[in-house]
Amino acid sequence: MKISFQSLGTRLPSCDLLVLCTLEGEKPRIPAGITLPKHGLSDLKGEFKELRLCDATAGPAKRVLLVGMGKKNELDPEKARRLGAWAAQRADALGAASLALVAHGSLSEALGPQRMGQALAEGLMLGSYRYEEHKTKKRESKLKSALVLATEKDVELGVERGVILAEANCFARDLQNKPANLLTPRDMASAAKSLAKAGRVQVSILDEDDMKKLGMGLLLGVAQGSRQPPRLLHLHYKPKSKPKGVVALVGKGLTFDSGGISIKPALKMDDMRYDMSGAAAVLGVFHALRKLDVPWEVHGVAPCSENMPGGQATKPGDIHTAMNGTTVEVLNTDAEGRLVLADALCYCVSKIKADTIVDLATLTGAVTIALGHELSGLFTASDKLREELIAAGEETGERLWHLPLIDVHKEGMKGVFADLRNISGGDMGAGASAGAAFLASFVGQTEWAHLDIAGTAWGGSNRDWTGGPLGSGVGTRMLLRWLETR
Ligand code: BES
Ligand code: MN
Ligand code: ZN
Repeated sequence: MKISFQSLGTRLPSCDLLVLCTLEGEKPRIPAGITLPKHGLSDLKGEFKELRLCDATAGPAKRVLLVGMGKKNELDPEKARRLGAWAAQRADALGAASLALVAHGSLSEALGPQRMGQALAEGLMLGSYRYEEHKTKKRESKLKSALVLATEKDVELGVERGVILAEANCFARDLQNKPANLLTPRDMASAAKSLAKAGRVQVSILDEDDMKKLGMGLLLGVAQGSRQPPRLLHLHYKPKSKPKGVVALVGKGLTFDSGGISIKPALKMDDMRYDMSGAAAVLGVFHALRKLDVPWEVHGVAPCSENMPGGQATKPGDIHTAMNGTTVEVLNTDAEGRLVLADALCYCVSKIKADTIVDLATLTGAVTIALGHELSGLFTASDKLREELIAAGEETGERLWHLPLIDVHKEGMKGVFADLRNISGGDMGAGASAGAAFLASFVGQTEWAHLDIAGTAWGGSNRDWTGGPLGSGVGTRMLLRWLETR
């Protein structure tokens, strides 16, 4: 579907569906030239999510959808995204080929024209996302074009940005949704390379020999039970002018996590295709970095591997050595994410020499117990980073909640036979904090935040543009917002 802006003049374009919105306590404004049936608008209150569909009796639009947007002082980008998503979904259900959405003046007054345009475009595109690659009979959508109509020119800028961000999010979603037989660590490497072809982004791929040379014993230890060789993806973006600093984004890239010898139960094990969602989010960021003007030098690092049981697999109790020399006893092979991330973090500290590191990982089931599916867990000792990331999450509808990481948690990760253990001792609880505490040992003094996205990467409640059993692509838009505004 092509999403574009058109300035709202006296003549409306002809379209199959015209979408108008109205606010609580306001009389709906119907553009000149559109005639609705006599009782088309009776009892319309304008409450949020109130929808009314009418056949236009005259004018350039075949049908008109009126959408209630609630109270003016409660408008936010999330509501605008949902409006975009409803418009696209209703148009699709009606078999419309073209839709035009009149951006209500109050919406742009409340959000600003560019911000509104962006949210609407994101909603239109993300609300029409589908994953049909493996269906022999694909459900083709007739919807080919969506116009955002507004009077302010700045809306156009927003629409263009919204399309770039939504495309990046969809790129991440597509990677997430692929089953593990069709997306191996080597396929992740190909996906990264495809981003470099378009320019402005450089990619290098580390294979097992490179990992051995660097001493990445933890990543290799996770991968050794699988027939699929691991890959570490390293993407690099440089701004045109002198960078404000060096940021590294690290994403957990387990293309499948069976648990290894500490094998997982069968129920929902197929969900573990999504254990590469952190890496997908990082690749999504680079999909958009090519097209935006982010003032930071950005590195993306994704340790990619399978976690499988097998004759060569790591056994509970085995000891492996990280790139920075730290020894780790692997007491549960299902706590593998922290192992692959540990080597990736060492690489960011000693090779990339990043000023700031943010990692994203589907790290623990525990974070879902704590926060559910609507909030990602955020761990950081930096007040500044915490505020910045939370603000970026509020803006993009990918919310974060700060969780504790204290000395007791770090203490609990000390090993008996080696320096560290990969699961906490005793009955410490706080599983998400334990995972974060393990990672903390590998970042040294570097400014760092860890995001546990195990609850948010898929399975959220329905918010029209996101939610449901497919991958959400969480992280991509939030990180881009952070990089752009920081
Ligand atoms: N990938 C899982 C975490 C996960 C579980 C994400 C369910 C989404 C849904 C991770 O590798 C894992 O298995 N973590 C263990 C850690 C435990 C062994 C300390 C967990 O959460 O059970
Ligand atoms: Mn696991
Ligand atoms: Zn995992």
